[in-house]
Amino acid sequence: MAQVIIVGTQWGDEGKGKIVDLYARDADVIARFQGGNNAGHTLVVEGRQTILHLIPSGILHNNKICVLGNGMVIDPEVLLQEIDELSEKNLFPPDTKLYISQNAHIIMPYHRSLDKARETRKGATKIGTTGRGIGPAYEDKIVRTGIRLCDLLDSETFGEMLRSNVEEKNFYLTQFYEEKPVEYDAIFDEYCGYADRLRQYAANTSLIIDQEIKKGSDILFEGAQGCHLDIDYGTYPFVTSSNTAAGSACCGSGVGPTRIDAVVGICKAYTTRVGEGPFVTELTGTIGEKIQTVGCEFGATTGRKRRCGWLDMVLVRQSVRVSGITGIALTKLDVLTGINPLRICVAYKTGSEQFSESVPPNTKVLGQCSPVYEEMAGWSEDITGAKTMDDLPVNARRYIERLEELAGVKMSLVSVGPGRDETIMLRNPFHG
Ligand code: GDP
Ligand code: IMO
Ligand code: MG
Repeated sequence: MAQVIIVGTQWGDEGKGKIVDLYARDADVIARFQGGNNAGHTLVVEGRQTILHLIPSGILHNNKICVLGNGMVIDPEVLLQEIDELSEKNLFPPDTKLYISQNAHIIMPYHRSLDKARETRKGATKIGTTGRGIGPAYEDKIVRTGIRLCDLLDSETFGEMLRSNVEEKNFYLTQFYEEKPVEYDAIFDEYCGYADRLRQYAANTSLIIDQEIKKGSDILFEGAQGCHLDIDYGTYPFVTSSNTAAGSACCGSGVGPTRIDAVVGICKAYTTRVGEGPFVTELTGTIGEKIQTVGCEFGATTGRKRRCGWLDMVLVRQSVRVSGITGIALTKLDVLTGINPLRICVAYKTGSEQFSESVPPNTKVLGQCSPVYEEMAGWSEDITGAKTMDDLPVNARRYIERLEELAGVKMSLVSVGPGRDETIMLRNPFHG
């Protein structure tokens, strides 16, 4: 029995979906604990692609308990659409065990409007958000005006909360942002319809997970985004509005930290970023374009091109520390095939200052940093069929060993393609 957290170590899109799906085979419960439908997790099973935004990536296995934890912000329209699409593909049978925390906050139409209006007003200084209303929904949670699932399910409470929110948000929307107001009646009717459908899934998910742990079940906590999009430890203000580091799994699902056994950090063999913000190892020339094309680096949520760059181990070392990572799952190693030499960023330099353990928090300082690279010989052999480390070319093995040294933790697995079987399994966190 084990409780394992999975988090991204970079700026998201590290391949968490694939790895969660892989480990879900060994888990009884798969729980999301933060974020919302800003996430896009891609799973490729038997050649068929599924993109999930809210439902945990364990859903493709039969009979697993899937939890949407209290730390999430949930857009009911998107969630119900996801359920419908999975049902059409026979991936969501009527007895599916999906539980949504009654305490999870609900994304409302005014959250989406405010998110977009703010970005438009910021112009060149925009964050490049997904426009899904994530930031404004978390804002309401913190200022204590948010609507939770339990509030939505009680139409009287919902009506009262909605009325005061609409009044306040329309003031901002029309007076400050010069945008269209939202309409109370239309939202009330629409959301009461969602409440009818969501009622069956509402639960005390902290209690459910606790009961499962007491029964000896294995639990997988599925992070969204990545440690450098974390509201505290990321490249603020170019971050998302939740804590994405592993500690968030506890508060966001109602499980105490003493229950956690392992934290797997997902690390892409290079670095990508969607949206704005500093990116020390960004490659804007032909190598960056090659990685973008070969790695199919397009956002799974917004379809935007992902910016690409060399692997940045300053980012990864900070993530290992902040999230207490016990093993790394290295993904997309196959994408580096044919690039020679390879570079790994081991530190940042600005003037006489050098940073190797931590990303400087000041955006201006970070923007002035240049990367300190180590060069390593690449490989040209196709590695997508590799099942063991011995199947890899010696230079690929050297690259991996160097990453282990720089990260200070061992690899749990190496992924060499999007499919479940395109994986070299090294240490399974559920088997000690
Ligand atoms: P997530 O948000 O962390 O779940 O990652 P995304 O799903 O947004 O992006 C990762 C992309 O890489 C998806 O299209 C995956 O199918 C794909 N992928 C995952 N692992 C590998 C791998 O080892 N090699 C290749 N070529 N693609 C991979
Ligand atoms: P997954 O789970 C990559 C980025 C956005 C933007 C910033 C803030 O698929 O790894 P938000 O809409 O959250 O307020 O946007 O965060 N972002 C992601 N980038 N992967 C994600 O999720 C992301 N979720 C948010 O592009 O820069
Ligand atoms: Mg993604």
